[in-house]
This record gives sequence, C-alpha cells and structure tokens, in this order.
Amino acid sequence: MCGIIGYCGHRPAVPVIIEGLKRLEYRGYDSAGVAFLQGRELVSVKAEGKLGNLEAKLAAQNIYLATSGVGHTRWATHGLPTEKNAHPHLDAARAIALVHNGIIENYQELKKELAAAGIRCVSETDTEVLAQLVGLYLKEKGSLAEAVSKALSRVEGSYAIVVVSRDNPGMLYAARKHSPLVLGVGVGENFLASDIPAFLPYTREVVFLDDGEMVRIDAGSWQVMDAVTLAPVAKEVRHISWDVAAAQKGGYKHFMLKEIFEQPRVIADCLTGRLDRTTGQAVLPELEDLPAPERLFIVACGTSYHAGLWGMYLMEQWAGIPTRVEIASELRYRDPILGPGDTVVAISQSGETADTLAGIHLAKARGAKVIGLCNVVGSTVAREADVVLYTQAGPEISVASTKAMCSQLTLLTLMAMAFGRKRGVLPAEVATRCLPALEALPAELDAALPGMRQRARELCRVYAEAHSFLYLGRGLCYPLALEGALKLKEISYIHAEGYAAGEMKHGPIALIDPKFPTFALAPLDGLYPKVKSNLQEVQARGGKVIALTNPGADLDVDHPWEVPAGWGPLSTFFMLPALQLFAYEMADYLGKDVDQPRNLAKSVTVE
Ligand code: F6R
Repeated sequence: MCGIIGYCGHRPAVPVIIEGLKRLEYRGYDSAGVAFLQGRELVSVKAEGKLGNLEAKLAAQNIYLATSGVGHTRWATHGLPTEKNAHPHLDAARAIALVHNGIIENYQELKKELAAAGIRCVSETDTEVLAQLVGLYLKEKGSLAEAVSKALSRVEGSYAIVVVSRDNPGMLYAARKHSPLVLGVGVGENFLASDIPAFLPYTREVVFLDDGEMVRIDAGSWQVMDAVTLAPVAKEVRHISWDVAAAQKGGYKHFMLKEIFEQPRVIADCLTGRLDRTTGQAVLPELEDLPAPERLFIVACGTSYHAGLWGMYLMEQWAGIPTRVEIASELRYRDPILGPGDTVVAISQSGETADTLAGIHLAKARGAKVIGLCNVVGSTVAREADVVLYTQAGPEISVASTKAMCSQLTLLTLMAMAFGRKRGVLPAEVATRCLPALEALPAELDAALPGMRQRARELCRVYAEAHSFLYLGRGLCYPLALEGALKLKEISYIHAEGYAAGEMKHGPIALIDPKFPTFALAPLDGLYPKVKSNLQEVQARGGKVIALTNPGADLDVDHPWEVPAGWGPLSTFFMLPALQLFAYEMADYLGKDVDQPRNLAKSVTVE
C-alpha cells in the first residue's frame, strides 16, 4: 500500500517525482525515496517519515540533473518504517533500482535462494528480494526487459513496480499484478504512477495497465507488452477530465474538510445523466441488460461497508430484494450460499481494496453477477466487475472517507429505485417524491453546511476531554452510527462505538456514566419515539447526550443539534456530514493529523 512514480522526459526528474509523490502521499507516508542516474551511477536518496524529510535531504544535495527516475512513498507491510527499509531498493551490483507497491508473499523462500547464490539482502523488506532478482537475471540475460520478466515470474503476490537501470539511461520498465499502475502519456515525457493525480499537472492522457502487463517508457515513446512473452500489447489512450485543483486542497485547511464541503456537488455529479424528469425514473443504463436481482449480496469494507448496510434498507423496502451485507474480509473465508442467479454489489471508493476484490473473485467463481460501485475509473474493481457504476465523486485524498460515502449512498438510492421499478414494486410515494427531493438536495445541503460546521466546532470543544463515545441509531441511522464512530476514532483517536440504539440495554448501558457521552441520531422519523426513550435511559444513568435531530423535535438532552430534515431516507444526507464534521473538528481541535491519521492508508491493497 504505497505510492510509486516513474518519470522520463525533458524536465529535471527529481522535482517532478517529488511533486507527484506529494499527491500520492495519501497512499502511505512512513518513508519516501527517489532513485535516478547521476553520470554512470545510480543514486538513491531516502528518508524516514513524511515526504518533507526527503525534500530536506534532497535540498542539501545538488542533484537536479537527471531527467528520468523513480520515487516511492511507503506504507510499511514488511519491515519497520525505517530509512533502510524505504524504497527504492537497489540490487547488489547497484545496476538497477526498483520501487514496489504490493506484497511478495514468497520473499523468505527467495531470500534463502539469493543467499545461497551469495547475495545478501540489506533490508527487511519483501521488495528488496525482487530488486536483487532483477539484478541477478540482468547479469545472466543482459536485457533489462527479460530480467524483469524472469524476476516477476518467480514472485508470488501482488505488485506494481517501476525499475530504473544504470545501463539503460532515460528508460524505465514497469509492471503490475493486483496493484494499481497507470501510464501518463505526455509530449516529450511519459509517466508511471499508482494513481492519476501524480502526473495530472503534466498530462491527462492515460493508459490503464492490466495485470500481467509490462511497459517500457522513455521520453518520446512507450510500449506495453505481455510480461511473460514480451509480445507487444495494443492499448487505448484515455482522456481524463479531472483538473489539478480537484486533486488539491482548494483553500481548505485539510482535504477532509474540502471533501466534506464538496458533498453537495458530489450528489449533483452523481445524479448527472441519471434522472429522467419526465418519467421520474432513475436512469442507470449499465443495469439495463441485467435481470432484476432476486437476491443481493453487498460486499465492502469500512466506510463502504456502512454505505452498503444503509443500502440494504432501501433494496429491501423499495425493491423487495432480500439483501445481505457482508464484510469482505469475512465473506472471502466463508463458504457462503451464493451462486448463479445471485447478484453481488461490490462497493469500493478506491476500487483496489484487496478484501473486496477477493469477494468479487469468490462471487465470480460461484457464477454470481458482480456489479461494481466505485469511484476510481479504470480501477481493478471497475475492471473485474461484470458491470460498473461510477460514483463520480472525483479524487478523494483524505484518508478518512467522506464524500465517497455520500456518492455511494446517492447511487444506492438510484439503484434501489431502478430495481424497484424493474420488479414492479417501487412504492408510489418513492416513485413520485424521491427524484425531486434528490435534485433539491445539493442546494439545501450547501446552505446547511456552514452552520453545521459551526455547531460541530462548539460541541467538540465541550466534549474534547472525553475518552470514549457511544454512537446510537436505529434503522437507517444504525449504519450512520457505525460510520460516525469510525470517523471519530480514526482521525481523533478517541475510542467510539457505534450501536443499534435498541441493543444498548443488552450490555453497553453498563458503561454509561457522566464521563461517557452518547452521540445519538434521532431524526424525526417513525423510530423517533423509540430513540427518544433510549436517550432517557442514558440520561437516567447520568450520561451526557448530543442528539442529532430535526427542527420540531422535543428532545430534552444536553446538546440537541438540529439539521434540516430531507424527504424520507434523504435525511441521511444531512446527518452524515454532521457526523463527519464533528469528527473533523474534534481531530483538528486536538491537533491530530487529520488527512493522514496514524497507522492508516487510503487504499488497503493488502489483506
Ligand atoms: C474510513 C475509510 C476506510 C475505507 C475502506 C474501504 O474512513 O476510508 O474504512 O472505507 O478501507 O475502502 P474502499 O472504499 O476504497 O474499498
């Protein structure tokens, strides 16, 4: 789970690589490094910690002459996050340097083999083994392409790699298997990266590489080939419409805040082209050729899993489809009753989450149809699913997911409508009211967000001393309670637990005391009276309560927090940003690293 980049062109390579790494830092930030040719020598500069440390080191050296090179920002999987373990890794002869994202599963075995051949690895990483293998086979074969190909044939696991070599100046080789890698095609320059924003200031022309492919680039040309046979593979160059500003903070203090405030636009973008105003129908052409599912499995992780849990309520109520929601890492090791005739919806912002991909593989092996819901165009989920619906949220840089969930909920709403209509069971009220309400949402939310942020700021100051929070919700607000707790813990490091409000009396109530606050979701819906009485139970035990509710509620709690009520389930679209803002303001107030919380990475491409 790292960010890699390679550059060949006419510019000084190191600044281009560093700039690209800054836009990939969300993929990992334990250590960083670059490698490039200086004269006839391969130079590698690495630093522990964030990219700033590497920049400081580079600033002290005069090394801006190279016009090609590779870079890496690391999220440790094997070996401590030290300088020694940072990438790039060089072979013993210092003939090649390699950056890698993924995991080499058989690295211990290969390490022993290398040791028997007299090659000693200097780091604790799995990656160095691959670098040493490339070096070894380069001596044997003389051709870098053949050496890389042979080395890759020896490794088990996942990788995206870029290799720079001492004897092939101005040229890079790269390959991928189960880890993302894209080629950016410029004018007189070419790029390789884990993700598009890395080279967006220079080009929007992109080639998505597939598993089992290798690519050679120099400043003026590129060639994709089969990684085993080295036979050329024809690839399509695609144009990306994202602009650079979308991948930067746009004046906000943090990406997370920017992304929370982008949610009105995200809803509007997700709806674009998907509403037929004359018929009041959701238009999802991607689903047209699929039969209406008889049974749905939603598979996802983390925040995307919470979105799936929310979607289950709509799929059942609006489309009458029995729906199970599965944590992907659990599903992959079960023997689920899943087969032809079933439909699996895999939800993933990044489209690269290893567990979710494993869920897709299992579903396909059992003959089920897979619908991918993802944000990143051309990602592995998008390519492996039978059908893909893009959430169109734009790049999400903050490690904590916010706008991606909003877009997933929007798309799930449209899907539930489309399926409900296809099955002829869509409730009349939904058919007439949902689309106009969805269309009105962006403007309503836009107007509400500044006030919500203000309230979040006030409340986080009141509760900043708390060591633990209980989030409670019922129905559609249960997944939101889980999500609110996840957001708070991941960025503010305050423990929080999300619970179904009705379950509180079965255990967690024992925890309630004046120092253990409850954050309740209490919209004015059919379940309001039930949640209200749960809150009375909390207060009777001295517990303090923040209650997210709607104007007109009669809650007598310590801190009521009124947000606008949307039509039916669309109230969610006001509750969700409030939860996100509370976590954001708390983390910022406590001085935490909001966009890059400790121990986390944006896309979890390993198990
Ligand atoms: C939490 C968060 C994670 C992701 C999870 C799945 O803020 O970002 O829980 O939601 O790792 O990632 P995707 O959606 O990319 O599959």
